[in-house]
This record gives sequence, C-alpha cells and structure tokens, in this order.
Amino acid sequence: KPNAELYLAPSEQKIPTGHGKVILLGEHAVVYGAHAIAAPIPLAMQAMVSDSDEDGIHLIISRWGVEERLQKGKEYRYSIFNSLSLILHELGLEKENMKIEVFPYVPRAMGLGGSASLAVAIIRALAEKFKIKLSLEEISQLAYKSEQLVHGTASGIDNTLATYGKFLLFQKGNPPKIQELRVPQPIRIVIGLTWSESLTAKMVSRVRRAWENNKRLYNHIFKEIDQLVLEAAKAIENYDLEHLGQLMNINQGLLNALQVSGREIEELVEIARNNGALGAKLTGGGGGGAIIALCPENAEKVAKAIRNVGYRAYITDLK
Ligand code: MEV
Repeated sequence: KPNAELYLAPSEQKIPTGHGKVILLGEHAVVYGAHAIAAPIPLAMQAMVSDSDEDGIHLIISRWGVEERLQKGKEYRYSIFNSLSLILHELGLEKENMKIEVFPYVPRAMGLGGSASLAVAIIRALAEKFKIKLSLEEISQLAYKSEQLVHGTASGIDNTLATYGKFLLFQKGNPPKIQELRVPQPIRIVIGLTWSESLTAKMVSRVRRAWENNKRLYNHIFKEIDQLVLEAAKAIENYDLEHLGQLMNINQGLLNALQVSGREIEELVEIARNNGALGAKLTGGGGGGAIIALCPENAEKVAKAIRNVGYRAYITDLK
C-alpha cells in the first residue's frame, strides 16, 4: 500500500486539532523577512487530555510506540517532550495529573509542519480540559515558543498555519502579517515523500551560516524569492496555474542555490515535471522531506510515476 503511512485525520473536528501544511513558495527566505505562501493539508495532529489516577503527566502516542511519564531533566528521543514541558509551564499546569493522548496523522520530519501542529493540538486539548480561554493569536504565539525551542530561529509560519488552517500569505513579525488568499477553485497538488528526514533546524542553521558569511549575496536571493511569492499570490487569486507552476520551478532553483535541496528531492521534482506537472519544488525545510507538484490535470499520473520508483505520493486539493 503506497499510501499506508498517510492516514487522513477523522473529518469530525471535535478532537482538538493542529493542521499540517505545505509551503507553496518562500520557505527559508521567510526567516529573513520575505513573504511566503502556505496552505493547510488534510493531514493533522490531534490530542486529547483526560484525568489520570496516577501521579504526574503521562504522554501516550500509540502510533509511535510512546508511553511515558514526563520527567524533569530527562533526555528524550522526541522533541515533543521538551515542547510539552514548555507548554505545561506556560499554562501553569505542570503540577496537574493527567493523561495526554496524541493521534499523529502528519508524517514526522517531512517538512509538513508536524512539530507545530503537534504543539497546537496539545495546547488546544489542554485549554479545553482546564477551561483556559485562549485566542487564536495566543495559541499560535505559544506554539511559536515551542517552535523556537525545536527549530531555532523559526519564522512563525508553521505555528500560524497549524493554528488558523487557512490558505495564507505570511510575513514574519510581531505580530506576523497574515493575509488570507482567496482561491477561486481548489488547487490540486501531489505531495511526494523522500525517504530522508527533513531536519528543519539543521537546514535553517545551515542557511544562517551561509548568510552570515555573505549577507549581500544571500539577501539578494531572499529578495528574488520575495518577488516570486508576491507574484504567485496574484497568480493564485487569478487561478493562473501555468504561471504559478513557473514561479514554483524558479523558486526551486533558488532553493537549490541556498543548498537546501538534495538528491531525492531533485529526483522527485524531475519525475513530476517529466510527467506533466506545471511546477515542482521542495516544501518546508528541505534536505529531505517532501516535494509538492502542481498537477491540475494529471495528478494520478504524477503520483503513479513517483510510486513506481519506490517513493510515497499523496494527492490533495489546496483551498
Ligand atoms: C519550515 O516549514 C519553513 C522554514 O522556512 C523555517 C521557518 O520558516 O521557520 C524552513
């Protein structure tokens, strides 16, 4: 089953949810003030908090084989434990006894916003259980603190998408500038997954080192990307997918110039383009992780070609 790991979250959104996302254009440059465009995908993180007879805070993520009591100072394999400690501290809930169950439907370390959507789902579940009133802005802000811990200098795009779950033009700031994009019709894409983890923190710090060594050159690339993104926002609102695809391809070239692409990413991008995708590029942190291919007419063909060489592919409509 090629899509075995890509389960859809249950559609009844009663369970507190954080949305997964794809970045259509502008990743990395967004950390340096450029605009970026992102959209939610139907893969989400969900969480539930319930009473516990036992002492302490128990975290259960059955799909990942995690069943642990939170302990101060312990080194954990998953960054979720650090993120959770921070969230509990900020909400003043460290001393409560509880069971937190997480249902992860966003593939881990694929550049699809897994860590931010996990933080948002947990914040929402805690707020619901302990009757803490939080605005969307407060939820996003708290998830941002968690992202800073996990990703280093994050722009805030992942937590914003995880919270709002809307098609957005984003620019970082305090508060960030977010503008909802009007999409005349759903935009069909294929998400192709490499077999390598996308370590966003590593890629973000690699770009930072390169920028520090040559700010003029890198600022120039970020500015180019910013222009592409603003043009793409117009193309999306006009449903000019040919042009959007072109802009995505050029963005991929510039991401390659930033050295955040990789062998598997380039292979997937090439397969997508050879099979008629209007545009294809990496999405998120890069290094490994996922690509997106714009395929209004031929998504099945592109997905099949990706699966034929042993990668996973998932078709979805952005709206
Ligand atoms: C990660 O989804 C996007 C990056 O631009 C990092 C960030 O904006 O925080 C690579």
